[in-house]
Amino acid sequence: AFHEEPKDVSFTSDGPFGKFDNQQLQRGFQVYKEVCAACHGIRLVAFRNLTELGYSEDEVKAIAANWPIETPDIDPNTGEASSRPSVPADTFPEPFANDVAAAAANNNAIPPDLSLITKARGGGAPYIYSLLTGYTEPPAELPEANRPGPGLHYNPYFANLNIAMAQPIVLDDQVAYSDGTKATMSQMAQDVSAFLIWTAEPSLIKQKQTGWAVIAFLLIATILAFLSYKSIWADVK
Ligand code: HEM
Repeated sequence: AFHEEPKDVSFTSDGPFGKFDNQQLQRGFQVYKEVCAACHGIRLVAFRNLTELGYSEDEVKAIAANWPIETPDIDPNTGEASSRPSVPADTFPEPFANDVAAAAANNNAIPPDLSLITKARGGGAPYIYSLLTGYTEPPAELPEANRPGPGLHYNPYFANLNIAMAQPIVLDDQVAYSDGTKATMSQMAQDVSAFLIWTAEPSLIKQKQTGWAVIAFLLIATILAFLSYKSIWADVK
């Protein structure tokens, strides 16, 4: 009764004529990088995939270089695991060494990898948007048993109402967008949700366009077949 369905929010990639808005995807990547990446990986995405969002190869190199990645080698001087700058061919490094470390840092909850999250939850990107913008005080009539315990946060869009993730987008202008877009909380939530549509389905738009090409081909093939039927049977009375 307290659980809410995702808000009615639309994305430029929706519908048969949908398109990604690269400016928006870049803003969404910025939100991921500056806010979500502290806890969530996108392990199925490689830095070089970012060229699809309109970044140049040099920009991608620079983004990767600022993202250290752990290597299996032990540093002979310190005895610690060593790291090196990422290169475009690397996938995004995980924020935690393993699930134990991830749980330890997050009140025993493991932040899920976000690469496929818009496909993994019913509700898709509108669910992600609603979750991010849906934190609120528990309603007065909420039974005691459903109230958030220690380390939990009330969010009516989350399946069991109380989520271990604290509200990640809490302030307007939490990130400084370089394209001049006003970084309202809702804008940032929308942009990062759009970015997560792309991480889960990078060829979504190509698939829609292929669909139209297939329909056009079938239409032409049908017309040709009909015309040849007409001409083959033309002199049969
Ligand atoms: C869970 C998105 C930032 C910690 C989740 C889930 C999503 C998500 C979609 C899964 C919800 C579900 O299971 O249905 C995001 C986005 C972020 C962000 C888009 C940035 C805007 C963070 C940050 C932290 C964090 C900064 C850590 C400080 C967690 C944890 C969970 C979680 C611990 C598991 C919650 C549970 O199962 O109760 N997040 N997150 N997230 N997130 Fe985040």
